[in-house]
Amino acid sequence: MKRFTLLALALAAGAVTAAPKADVAKGKEIATNVCAACHAADGNSGISMYPKVSAQHEAYIFQQTMDIKEGKRTHGSAVAMKPMVAGLSEQDIRDVSAFYAKQQAKPGETNPKENAELGAKIFRGGLADKKVPACMSCHGPSGAGMPGGGADIIAYPRIGGQHKAYIVAQMQAYQSGQRESAMMQDIAKRMSAEELEAVANFIQGLY
Ligand code: HEC
Ligand code: HEC
Repeated sequence: MKRFTLLALALAAGAVTAAPKADVAKGKEIATNVCAACHAADGNSGISMYPKVSAQHEAYIFQQTMDIKEGKRTHGSAVAMKPMVAGLSEQDIRDVSAFYAKQQAKPGETNPKENAELGAKIFRGGLADKKVPACMSCHGPSGAGMPGGGADIIAYPRIGGQHKAYIVAQMQAYQSGQRESAMMQDIAKRMSAEELEAVANFIQGLY
């Protein structure tokens, strides 16, 4: 009896301390079989409707994929992805997130003719008159993002090199409130359509 109790205690303690581990090789298989059709095998999708997920923060990929699977992220084209991930377990999603987080990011290009200077200004310095903070202050000077702190913010996602059309669509979703985030909603609502286009054009070429 005593031995049994000690064993049970040891097992319980183990369960609390052992964080679930990701299997990157298994994640690669899932990426190839499930995600590659839209996001590409290395996460550098060439189609602007499908966001790049290469070198994205692991915890952010996991959270967004879980949100889409569970129907918590429904704006934009998320419905297209939902059935594709419906059959994946939490562990599968952990594995594939670890794989994509380790892939090399490939930037796109900034079109110099589309308000590139205004875009750079907003990204690096914000818009003081409208109280729009510099995007760089949270997403980093190269747009690589940062790990999150605290329970609310899982990560400041990587946005450098992301497709312009996808960035604009996300900013519009924050503006309309379809995508939740107190921080990003507040920022997006202060910006005009022209400013969104300009900063997204700049970010697309950032690396
Ligand atoms: C049928 C195409 C399709 C497949 C297959 C697919 N996705 Fe997606 N995914 C999308 C679309 C479209 C979006 C953007 C939704 C939107 O408009 O906001 C998206 C968004 C995401 C995002 C959010 C990115 C961000 O920057 O916020 C992540 C993470 C993601 N997908 C991971 C995955 C993973 C991992 C797999 C495979 C297990 C996968 N997706 C399979 C179409 C797909
Ligand atoms: C105070 C910190 C902060 C600042 C400043 C900031 N962001 Fe964000 N941003 C975040 C956080 C946190 C998220 C993740 C929110 C979520 O989960 O939807 C995010 C998400 C995003 C996304 C969605 C990324 C994706 O992969 O779907 C885009 C696009 C974005 N930000 C663009 C910008 C732009 C453009 C600026 C500057 C005008 C900016 N951000 C300034 C904190 C910030």
